[in-house]
Amino acid sequence: MTTVDTGRTHRLGPVTDIPVGEGRAYAVDGHQIAVFRLRGGGLRAVSAVCPHAGGPIADGLIDAKVVICPLHQHVYDLATGCSTTGQPPLRVYDVRTDDDGILMLTT
Ligand code: FES
Repeated sequence: MTTVDTGRTHRLGPVTDIPVGEGRAYAVDGHQIAVFRLRGGGLRAVSAVCPHAGGPIADGLIDAKVVICPLHQHVYDLATGCSTTGQPPLRVYDVRTDDDGILMLTT
């Protein structure tokens, strides 16, 4: 996925690139970020590499609140990044949409 850098705001493309209820990985400012499209509407963005053993978080199963890493099933809160199964947290990123698609804000 190509991103267009406009300062600290990054355009990631159309929301429809992410099927509802799934995640996709993006490279932004040298960070691998998993963006999820929630079934109830809205997006969540967290670091895409599982702190347990490097699993692909964007391929994890989600519900409205958590993602489950596909490798060893550790669970992370999508709003806070905190693990509910005793792992170090995922980093949480500010993601939103406008008329042109997904916007990622990095600091
Ligand atoms: S790598 Fe994610 S749970 Fe092990």
